[in-house]
Amino acid sequence: MDSEQRYEKTAKILTDNGQGQLLAFYDQLPDNMRQHLLAQIERLDFSQIPIWIEKYIKNARTMTLANILEPAPAYPSEPTTLAEQQKYELARKRGTELLSAGKVAAFVVAGGQGTRLGFDGPKGNFPISPIKNKTLFQLFAETILAAGKKYGTELCWYIMTSPLNNRATREIFESNHYYGLDKSGVFFFEQGTLPNFTFDGKILLADKANIAASPDGHGGSLKALYKSGALADMKARGIEYISYWQIDNPLVNIFDPLFVGLHALDGAEMSAKALVKSRPTEKVGNFGLVNGKVIVIEYSDLPDEQANKRKRDGSLLFELGSIAIHIISTAFVEKLNRGGFALPIHRAVKKISHIDTSGNAVTPTEPNGIKLETFVFDALPLAANPVILKTIRTEEFAPVKNATGENSPDVTRQMMIDRAAGWLAATGVTVPRRPDGLPDCIIEIAPSFALSARDVKAKKDRIPPISAGDQLYLE
Ligand code: UD1
Repeated sequence: MDSEQRYEKTAKILTDNGQGQLLAFYDQLPDNMRQHLLAQIERLDFSQIPIWIEKYIKNARTMTLANILEPAPAYPSEPTTLAEQQKYELARKRGTELLSAGKVAAFVVAGGQGTRLGFDGPKGNFPISPIKNKTLFQLFAETILAAGKKYGTELCWYIMTSPLNNRATREIFESNHYYGLDKSGVFFFEQGTLPNFTFDGKILLADKANIAASPDGHGGSLKALYKSGALADMKARGIEYISYWQIDNPLVNIFDPLFVGLHALDGAEMSAKALVKSRPTEKVGNFGLVNGKVIVIEYSDLPDEQANKRKRDGSLLFELGSIAIHIISTAFVEKLNRGGFALPIHRAVKKISHIDTSGNAVTPTEPNGIKLETFVFDALPLAANPVILKTIRTEEFAPVKNATGENSPDVTRQMMIDRAAGWLAATGVTVPRRPDGLPDCIIEIAPSFALSARDVKAKKDRIPPISAGDQLYLE
């Protein structure tokens, strides 16, 4: 097809769909930019766009699940019965075997824009560790390296970026020499994008040659794993389980034998870690059960009435919050993609920079349009036998999301110190504490020293006495 025919074909599709504005400046573009714009338009899925416009742009679909929602069952963080104790032991053994056999890969989603934190560049480059100021990327890399040594195998790391930060992310890894990891075990891939709309369903132009688009949400990872070749790479390496986490949480236990083991023993296709929410409306997803299927309802979608419901003992009926940590079987990702699955779409009203009909740049001060995205946890109801494992907040969840206040770097750093202090105290080391109970010292445990409280025990002899006001870095 020559350029002229290509243009005609594209223009017809756009006119039929009421999106002719996308070619308004076509005549003003040099030839290479014309091709670039046509290619973007050809990638738009016009079998879906009219449906999205009706369902999510013009009419905000409201959640109607409230009445049939039940609490989801979960494994406790510690076994409470003899049968559970035996199962947990078996699971830890199975998980350790799978880790040692190199069957589990690390997978972080890092395609988000991180706007709330107000940090320039990929969020993974945010410095967070309390003494050495290591970045999130460095902490995860060191964890993967240390776990590889612990389990006697190479553990691979898959990193999802987006068109917004793919190059910058790769450059950070290059300039940091992959933080000591073998480059061949680190796999970057980009997630897809979805177009941005005006409130009346018109797709916006970012400039004369580019559609305004944004990353398609972390749900896009399930497609991108497949499309990018990451899944095929995993298959070639014999990897069967994907340990998924978000870039913002430095406390994540990436290779947790218990979690991997429970997932495998129960024949789960996708599993999740949960914690007990700190308050009814904490900004985390809520686990629930609808017609026997596990679902996660985002905090903004759970009506206050449901969020505040309590059981007889006073605890919240929907007490389980999502910390966005999952084990996903590679076979499940493959099955979804072969079956041509589609996750539900979520809408977000946002400020979207664009050009107007005269081609002038507009930087809105108020929300002016809608971004669409998909969420990975919407795959849970499609998965067989999902395991939900409760975990302890102070051990595994301290996300950096906001510049100040809740989920801010200061809070995360303090939680990193608290966890390190807790690990030392658990082995009998005396940690000086302030009257309010917080450690009266700064402790940072490098992943090379310990990945868990259990690891600390083995190295107890290497821990010096700690005095008030000390800074102790263990590596
Ligand atoms: C998220 C979850 C929430 C969970 C909480 C735990 C959603 C909608 N909500 O909230 O249920 O309780 O984390 O901390 O996800 N990302 C991409 N590509 C994208 C969008 C996001 O890779 O297109 C990545 C980000 O880089 C980040 C993660 O997904 O690692 C979370 O994104 P974010 O928008 O910060 O989610 P939260 O609203 O904080």
